[in-house]
Amino acid sequence: MRLQSLLTIFCLGVVEVIASRQAQTPLASVPQPPPSSGPYTEFLPIRRVAVIGAGPSGLQSAAALLEHGFEVRLFDRRPKPGGNWFYTSVTPPPAAFPDRPIEFSAYTPDIPDVVPKIHIYEDGEDGISNEWRLREHWNPSPVWNDLHTNSAPVFTSLPDVKYPPDAEWALSHQHILRHVRQFASYKGLNSNDEESGNVTSYSTRVERLRKSPDGKTWRLHLRKLEQLPYSSGRIRAEWWTEDFDAVVVSAARFDAPHIPRIEGLAAWARAFPRQIYHSFQYREPEALRGKNVLIVGGSISASEIARAVAPYVKAFSISLRYHETYPSSFKRRSINRLPANITKIPEVSAFSKLDAHSADRGLSSASLTLLNGSVIGGFDEIIFATGYLRSHPFLVDFHNSSIIGRDEPEVKVAPIITDGTHLRSLHWTGHYINDPTLAFTNVRPWTLGRYQSLGFAKTWSGKARLPSQEQMWAEYPGAKSSVTSHAFGSLAEEAQNRQWVAWLNNASLEFGGRLVSPWPIEYREAFVYYANTAWEAGYTTSRNFTEYENTPRDQWRAETIARIALADEGACDWEWGCEEDW
Ligand SMILES: Cc1cc2nc3c(=O)[nH]c(=O)nc-3n(C[C@H](O)[C@H](O)[C@H](O)COP(=O)(O)OP(=O)(O)OC[C@H]3O[C@@H](n4cnc5c(N)ncnc54)[C@H](O)[C@@H]3O)c2cc1C
Ligand SMILES: NC(=O)c1ccc[n+]([C@@H]2O[C@H](COP(=O)([O-])OP(=O)(O)OC[C@H]3O[C@@H](n4cnc5c(N)ncnc54)[C@H](OP(=O)(O)O)[C@@H]3O)[C@@H](O)[C@H]2O)c1
Repeated sequence: MRLQSLLTIFCLGVVEVIASRQAQTPLASVPQPPPSSGPYTEFLPIRRVAVIGAGPSGLQSAAALLEHGFEVRLFDRRPKPGGNWFYTSVTPPPAAFPDRPIEFSAYTPDIPDVVPKIHIYEDGEDGISNEWRLREHWNPSPVWNDLHTNSAPVFTSLPDVKYPPDAEWALSHQHILRHVRQFASYKGLNSNDEESGNVTSYSTRVERLRKSPDGKTWRLHLRKLEQLPYSSGRIRAEWWTEDFDAVVVSAARFDAPHIPRIEGLAAWARAFPRQIYHSFQYREPEALRGKNVLIVGGSISASEIARAVAPYVKAFSISLRYHETYPSSFKRRSINRLPANITKIPEVSAFSKLDAHSADRGLSSASLTLLNGSVIGGFDEIIFATGYLRSHPFLVDFHNSSIIGRDEPEVKVAPIITDGTHLRSLHWTGHYINDPTLAFTNVRPWTLGRYQSLGFAKTWSGKARLPSQEQMWAEYPGAKSSVTSHAFGSLAEEAQNRQWVAWLNNASLEFGGRLVSPWPIEYREAFVYYANTAWEAGYTTSRNFTEYENTPRDQWRAETIARIALADEGACDWEWGCEEDW
């Protein structure tokens, strides 16, 4: 068993070295289409489009593109649609302590020298069990058994399908998965929809996305892994490539766990691998019955896991980081929701040095030091609810992890992935500015997805126009205002919603196509009521929706920038608005 894990680590290590070499490809060498000379981006004819990810965003994109007559291929590494909401008791492979480099934090791409290739894996081949091989391939999602939404059904819903009329505010993950799969089935995109055989390819991981040398098409390197029936656990692996004119990336935002770098932690994780883990491996509270548990982190996973385990644990503590700046509403909500009997402790500054017998004595006999100098111990399990990294290893050509943080002044750099905190170099529509045949979907709120997917279909079918590259860069607000980061009901999000409706409807008036409606007015009140009861009293008012109705479009950006500036001064939270707005 131990030999097998060593071999696994060794094998992964070798691939990591290869992957990190691949990651050095300079961005300048990525072939890109010549910039358009006119005021608008010009596209070569687009027929074949790949969509990566069959969660709420990818399914919406695939459906809209199919409805507009594109030849679509939808890939997901998981065996069925549902994305984040595909709950299973199977856990993903453990997190790395400390984080692996961003280029392959989510997984290590596996690209054989010669493709196409088929291989049948025997269990234990190369020292790796087939059970592990499958888990590493499809990476089960971080949902736990009694997780409920922290967003109301009105904005956690997909078009053309409905939740039951008496659905609760806080939907269970089972409810959501059924809703998402209902949408997939309705659009012919489910894994058992025979007619979608040419569209969907589940259990298929995208290993690499690369532009062809002539800069005209995208090549996807793909790997499909499936357990062979009646074969004593043998796995069939297939590698192949497919070429596309355009690609939508709807791959998971919460695939790669983040573990903070803390002195001594890596040694602890090696000594106590079953008792120290990331929240994405947490599945059910029963497993913590009678234990003394430490949760590290102060956001939503931390508070919701704390609430779930409260009735089971013997004792529990939570380690919170202190910041000078005012915490965001979501963080305040998380802290307010912590069970009353949890012990709040400061950030951990060091995990004590272990000796040769520490593993035998057990985790509970080891001690850690806090930032205030106190030394504590006695924990049976430690859960790192410390968030996720934005890592898409298939985008290795578009990485530059030497850029740290979101607010560097130089915005005209073209990597998409930098330090794992966000995506950058994207137009507000989600198109990659340097090559708008590549586009990225918003993660939240789901309701924006209907506009965005239509936007991809329209721009690529010539029914809507994007500004020239030069103009898109001129409008680019910087990495801080990433297209994928606007939060529920925030001013920035509402501005973006309105921009979508205005832009799509303008395009329909000019080039034909149906008009879209804004988010239904009757939902605004529901949203305000939900947010104020479920999140924080005074969190939002109807003004967040009407503000942009009363502000001319050319001033929206100035308004948002003014708020970002205020947030920088610490006066308010740029996503959520200023204190007086709540
Ligand atoms: C614990 C947890 C709770 C959450 N709760 C809420 C909530 O209450 N409300 C809310 O609105 N949001 C919530 N979210 C956010 C959640 O991400 C969104 O609800 C939603 O699932 C985003 O949809 P998506 O399609 O963008 O991504 P996902 O649902 O994450 O789907 C992405 C898909 O891409 C696939 N994929 C990734 N990489 C590859 C690859 N290389 N090749 C092929 N396929 C790939 C994945 O397998 C996955 O199926 C939560 C997230 C987490 C982690
Ligand atoms: N439906 C639900 O109920 C539910 C449940 C779980 C997750 N989610 C969703 O999933 C997403 C991810 O949430 P998440 O909570 O996993 O991640 P997250 O929001 O990114 O939070 C990570 C937390 O880890 C903390 N942290 C990082 N390093 C630390 C350290 N060294 N010591 C102490 N704390 C440290 C951060 O502290 P700082 O605050 O100081 O940065 C932050 O509070 C969110 O979008 C959330 O909405 C939803």
